[in-house]
Amino acid sequence: MEPILTAKDVVKVYHNLSGEPFYAVSHVSMEIERRSLTILRGRSGSGKTTMLNMMSALDLPDSGTITCEEIQINVPDEKIREQFRRTTIGYIFQAVALIPIMNAYENVEFSLRLSGYQGDYRERVEECLTKVGLKDRMYHMPYEMSGGEQQRVAIARAIAHKPKLIFADEPTAELDTQTALQVIKVFKDLIEKEDVSIIMTTHDAGLFDVGDVCYEMEDGQIVGKYVTGRNNESK
Ligand SMILES: Nc1ncnc2c1ncn2[C@@H]1O[C@H](COP(=O)(O)OP(=O)(O)OP(=O)(O)O)[C@@H](O)[C@H]1O
Ligand SMILES: [Mg+2]
Repeated sequence: MEPILTAKDVVKVYHNLSGEPFYAVSHVSMEIERRSLTILRGRSGSGKTTMLNMMSALDLPDSGTITCEEIQINVPDEKIREQFRRTTIGYIFQAVALIPIMNAYENVEFSLRLSGYQGDYRERVEECLTKVGLKDRMYHMPYEMSGGEQQRVAIARAIAHKPKLIFADEPTAELDTQTALQVIKVFKDLIEKEDVSIIMTTHDAGLFDVGDVCYEMEDGQIVGKYVTGRNNESK
Protein backbone atom coordinates (compact mmCIF):
# COMPACT_ATOMS: atom_id res chain seq x y z
CA MET A 1 0.00 0.00 0.00
CA GLU A 2 1.08 3.57 -0.70
CA PRO A 3 2.55 5.33 2.32
CA ILE A 4 0.41 8.14 3.74
CA LEU A 5 3.38 10.50 3.75
CA THR A 6 6.66 10.46 1.86
CA ALA A 7 9.67 12.68 2.47
CA LYS A 8 12.33 12.65 -0.24
CA ASP A 9 15.83 14.04 0.07
CA VAL A 10 14.80 16.70 2.56
CA VAL A 11 17.37 19.30 3.61
CA LYS A 12 17.19 22.06 6.22
CA VAL A 13 20.16 24.37 6.56
CA TYR A 14 20.78 27.07 9.13
CA HIS A 15 23.64 29.52 8.95
CA ASN A 16 25.74 30.58 11.90
CA LEU A 17 26.82 34.17 12.52
CA SER A 18 29.80 33.86 10.19
CA GLY A 19 27.53 32.50 7.47
CA GLU A 20 28.72 28.90 7.61
CA PRO A 21 26.00 26.36 6.82
CA PHE A 22 24.78 23.94 9.46
CA TYR A 23 22.72 21.00 8.19
CA ALA A 24 20.02 20.39 10.83
CA VAL A 25 18.49 17.85 8.41
CA SER A 26 20.63 16.48 5.62
CA HIS A 27 19.11 14.55 2.70
CA VAL A 28 16.55 12.64 4.70
CA SER A 29 14.07 10.33 3.02
CA MET A 30 11.40 8.48 4.93
CA GLU A 31 7.96 7.01 4.54
CA ILE A 32 5.08 6.91 6.97
CA GLU A 33 2.96 3.84 6.39
CA ARG A 34 -0.80 3.94 6.77
CA ARG A 35 -2.17 2.84 10.12
CA SER A 36 1.23 2.62 11.72
CA LEU A 37 3.17 3.96 14.65
CA THR A 38 6.50 5.34 13.48
CA ILE A 39 9.15 6.21 16.03
CA LEU A 40 11.83 8.80 15.27
CA ARG A 41 14.69 8.37 17.70
CA GLY A 42 17.98 10.14 18.15
CA ARG A 43 20.03 12.22 20.52
CA SER A 44 19.26 15.81 21.41
CA GLY A 45 20.06 18.01 18.43
CA SER A 46 19.96 15.17 15.89
CA GLY A 47 17.18 16.89 13.90
CA LYS A 48 14.01 15.10 15.02
CA THR A 49 11.89 18.17 15.72
CA THR A 50 13.14 19.90 12.60
CA MET A 51 12.12 16.88 10.53
CA LEU A 52 8.72 16.61 12.25
CA ASN A 53 8.01 20.30 11.74
CA MET A 54 8.71 19.99 8.01
CA MET A 55 6.59 16.85 7.63
CA SER A 56 3.73 18.63 9.38
CA ALA A 57 4.11 21.73 7.18
CA LEU A 58 4.92 24.00 10.10
CA ASP A 59 8.33 24.62 8.57
CA LEU A 60 9.69 24.54 5.01
CA PRO A 61 12.71 22.55 3.86
CA ASP A 62 15.43 24.20 1.78
CA SER A 63 15.20 21.35 -0.71
CA GLY A 64 13.51 18.01 -1.17
CA THR A 65 9.85 17.12 -1.38
CA ILE A 66 7.21 16.04 1.11
CA THR A 67 3.99 14.56 -0.18
CA CYS A 68 0.89 13.41 1.62
CA GLU A 69 -1.42 11.28 -0.50
CA GLU A 70 0.21 12.57 -3.66
CA ILE A 71 -0.21 16.21 -2.70
CA GLN A 72 2.97 18.15 -2.20
CA ILE A 73 2.82 19.94 1.13
CA ASN A 74 6.15 21.72 1.21
CA VAL A 75 4.89 24.58 -0.90
CA PRO A 76 5.52 28.26 -0.21
CA ASP A 77 1.79 29.06 -0.24
CA GLU A 78 1.01 29.38 3.47
CA LYS A 79 -2.73 28.97 2.81
CA ILE A 80 -2.23 25.49 1.38
CA ARG A 81 -0.03 24.49 4.29
CA GLU A 82 -2.47 25.91 6.79
CA GLN A 83 -5.33 23.99 5.23
CA PHE A 84 -3.26 20.79 5.44
CA ARG A 85 -2.42 21.44 9.09
CA ARG A 86 -5.98 22.23 10.02
CA THR A 87 -7.72 19.33 8.32
CA THR A 88 -5.28 16.49 7.69
CA ILE A 89 -3.05 16.40 10.74
CA GLY A 90 -3.10 16.61 14.51
CA TYR A 91 -0.20 17.67 16.73
CA ILE A 92 0.80 16.66 20.24
CA PHE A 93 3.61 18.40 22.07
CA GLN A 94 5.88 17.45 24.93
CA ALA A 95 4.60 20.15 27.24
CA VAL A 96 0.88 19.57 27.33
CA ALA A 97 -0.65 22.85 26.33
CA LEU A 98 -4.20 22.55 27.58
CA ILE A 99 -6.06 25.78 28.16
CA PRO A 100 -5.93 26.02 31.97
CA ILE A 101 -9.31 27.71 32.45
CA MET A 102 -11.18 25.11 30.39
CA ASN A 103 -12.10 21.60 31.52
CA ALA A 104 -11.18 18.52 29.48
CA TYR A 105 -14.42 18.61 27.49
CA GLU A 106 -14.07 22.31 26.65
CA ASN A 107 -10.43 21.92 25.63
CA VAL A 108 -11.33 19.27 23.07
CA GLU A 109 -14.45 21.07 21.88
CA PHE A 110 -12.60 24.35 21.42
CA SER A 111 -10.07 22.74 19.13
CA LEU A 112 -12.81 20.89 17.22
CA ARG A 113 -14.56 24.20 16.51
CA LEU A 114 -11.33 25.74 15.23
CA SER A 115 -10.86 22.89 12.77
CA GLY A 116 -14.20 23.56 11.07
CA TYR A 117 -15.35 20.01 11.82
CA GLN A 118 -18.68 19.13 10.23
CA GLY A 119 -20.62 17.02 12.64
CA ASP A 120 -22.03 16.85 16.12
CA TYR A 121 -19.48 18.43 18.48
CA ARG A 122 -20.80 16.92 21.70
CA GLU A 123 -20.94 13.41 20.31
CA ARG A 124 -17.41 13.61 18.91
CA VAL A 125 -15.86 15.19 22.01
CA GLU A 126 -17.40 12.55 24.25
CA GLU A 127 -16.33 9.81 21.88
CA CYS A 128 -12.71 11.02 21.82
CA LEU A 129 -12.41 11.45 25.58
CA THR A 130 -13.89 7.98 26.01
CA LYS A 131 -11.36 6.54 23.54
CA VAL A 132 -8.47 7.87 25.62
CA GLY A 133 -10.03 6.48 28.81
CA LEU A 134 -11.22 9.75 30.32
CA LYS A 135 -14.97 9.29 30.17
CA ASP A 136 -15.21 9.87 33.91
CA ARG A 137 -13.02 12.94 33.91
CA MET A 138 -14.62 14.88 31.13
CA TYR A 139 -15.44 17.84 33.31
CA HIS A 140 -12.20 17.96 35.25
CA MET A 141 -9.98 21.01 34.98
CA PRO A 142 -6.36 20.49 33.88
CA TYR A 143 -5.04 21.17 37.40
CA GLU A 144 -7.24 18.36 38.69
CA MET A 145 -5.58 15.81 36.40
CA SER A 146 -2.19 14.06 36.42
CA GLY A 147 0.38 14.68 33.70
CA GLY A 148 -0.59 11.43 31.97
CA GLU A 149 -4.28 12.31 32.05
CA GLN A 150 -3.58 15.78 30.69
CA GLN A 151 -1.56 14.23 27.88
CA ARG A 152 -4.53 11.99 27.09
CA VAL A 153 -6.77 15.06 26.86
CA ALA A 154 -4.19 16.47 24.43
CA ILE A 155 -4.42 13.24 22.42
CA ALA A 156 -8.23 13.45 22.36
CA ARG A 157 -7.86 17.01 21.13
CA ALA A 158 -5.41 16.01 18.41
CA ILE A 159 -7.69 13.29 17.01
CA ALA A 160 -11.05 15.04 17.38
CA HIS A 161 -11.26 16.45 13.85
CA LYS A 162 -10.37 13.03 12.38
CA PRO A 163 -6.91 13.77 11.02
CA LYS A 164 -5.13 11.16 8.93
CA LEU A 165 -1.79 11.78 10.55
CA ILE A 166 -0.74 12.66 14.04
CA PHE A 167 2.64 14.18 14.84
CA ALA A 168 3.78 13.83 18.43
CA ASP A 169 7.03 15.49 19.48
CA GLU A 170 8.37 13.83 22.64
CA PRO A 171 4.83 13.19 23.91
CA THR A 172 6.08 11.03 26.75
CA ALA A 173 9.17 13.00 27.82
CA GLU A 174 7.54 14.31 30.96
CA LEU A 175 5.94 11.00 31.94
CA ASP A 176 7.33 8.02 33.83
CA THR A 177 7.78 4.80 31.86
CA GLN A 178 4.57 3.23 33.11
CA THR A 179 2.50 6.27 32.10
CA ALA A 180 4.42 6.58 28.83
CA LEU A 181 3.47 3.00 27.98
CA GLN A 182 -0.18 3.83 28.66
CA VAL A 183 0.08 6.68 26.16
CA ILE A 184 1.58 4.25 23.62
CA LYS A 185 -1.32 1.90 24.23
CA VAL A 186 -3.75 4.75 23.55
CA PHE A 187 -1.85 5.47 20.31
CA LYS A 188 -2.14 1.85 19.22
CA ASP A 189 -5.86 1.71 19.96
CA LEU A 190 -6.36 4.88 17.94
CA ILE A 191 -4.41 3.51 14.98
CA GLU A 192 -6.67 0.51 15.00
CA LYS A 193 -10.00 2.25 15.59
CA GLU A 194 -9.56 5.71 14.12
CA ASP A 195 -7.58 4.71 11.06
CA VAL A 196 -4.74 7.18 11.67
CA SER A 197 -0.98 7.02 11.38
CA ILE A 198 1.13 8.39 14.20
CA ILE A 199 4.72 9.54 14.13
CA MET A 200 6.41 10.33 17.39
CA THR A 201 9.89 11.33 18.49
CA THR A 202 11.54 10.04 21.62
CA HIS A 203 14.87 9.80 23.45
CA ASP A 204 13.50 7.04 25.66
CA ALA A 205 15.33 3.82 24.81
CA GLY A 206 12.47 1.89 26.41
CA LEU A 207 10.17 3.08 23.63
CA PHE A 208 12.35 2.49 20.57
CA ASP A 209 10.67 -0.76 19.65
CA VAL A 210 7.08 -0.13 20.68
CA GLY A 211 6.11 1.09 17.20
CA ASP A 212 5.91 -0.58 13.81
CA VAL A 213 8.92 1.17 12.33
CA CYS A 214 11.74 3.07 14.00
CA TYR A 215 14.01 5.55 12.23
CA GLU A 216 17.21 6.58 13.93
CA MET A 217 18.64 10.05 13.34
CA GLU A 218 22.17 11.22 13.94
CA ASP A 219 23.57 14.63 13.01
CA GLY A 220 20.66 15.40 10.71
CA GLN A 221 20.75 12.08 8.89
CA ILE A 222 18.87 8.81 9.05
CA VAL A 223 21.38 6.19 10.15
CA GLY A 224 19.03 3.28 10.67
CA LYS A 225 15.57 1.98 9.90
CA TYR A 226 14.21 -0.86 11.97
CA VAL A 227 10.97 -2.64 11.28
CA THR A 228 9.91 -3.50 14.77
CA GLY A 229 6.23 -4.30 14.88
CA ARG A 230 3.38 -5.99 13.11
CA ASN A 231 4.39 -4.61 9.69
CA ASN A 232 7.32 -6.96 10.00
CA GLU A 233 5.06 -9.93 9.45
CA SER A 234 3.77 -8.65 6.13
CA LYS A 235 7.21 -7.73 4.72
N1 LIG B 1 15.84 28.04 14.07
C1 LIG B 1 17.04 27.49 14.22
N2 LIG B 1 18.16 28.19 13.95
C2 LIG B 1 19.39 27.62 14.07
N3 LIG B 1 19.59 26.34 14.41
C3 LIG B 1 18.52 25.60 14.68
C4 LIG B 1 17.19 26.11 14.59
N4 LIG B 1 16.31 25.13 14.91
C5 LIG B 1 17.06 24.04 15.20
N5 LIG B 1 18.39 24.33 15.05
C6 LIG B 1 19.49 23.37 15.26
O1 LIG B 1 19.25 22.22 14.49
C7 LIG B 1 19.66 21.04 15.19
C8 LIG B 1 18.50 20.05 15.27
O2 LIG B 1 17.52 20.58 16.16
P1 LIG B 1 16.22 19.77 16.54
O3 LIG B 1 15.40 20.65 17.38
O4 LIG B 1 15.60 19.26 15.30
O5 LIG B 1 16.82 18.56 17.37
P2 LIG B 1 16.06 17.39 18.14
O6 LIG B 1 16.58 16.10 17.63
O7 LIG B 1 14.60 17.62 18.10
O8 LIG B 1 16.61 17.60 19.64
P3 LIG B 1 15.85 17.35 21.04
O9 LIG B 1 15.89 15.87 21.28
O10 LIG B 1 16.72 18.10 22.02
O11 LIG B 1 14.47 17.92 20.95
C9 LIG B 1 20.16 21.52 16.55
O12 LIG B 1 21.56 21.59 16.50
C10 LIG B 1 19.56 22.89 16.69
O13 LIG B 1 20.36 23.73 17.49
MG1 LIG C 1 13.16 18.01 19.61
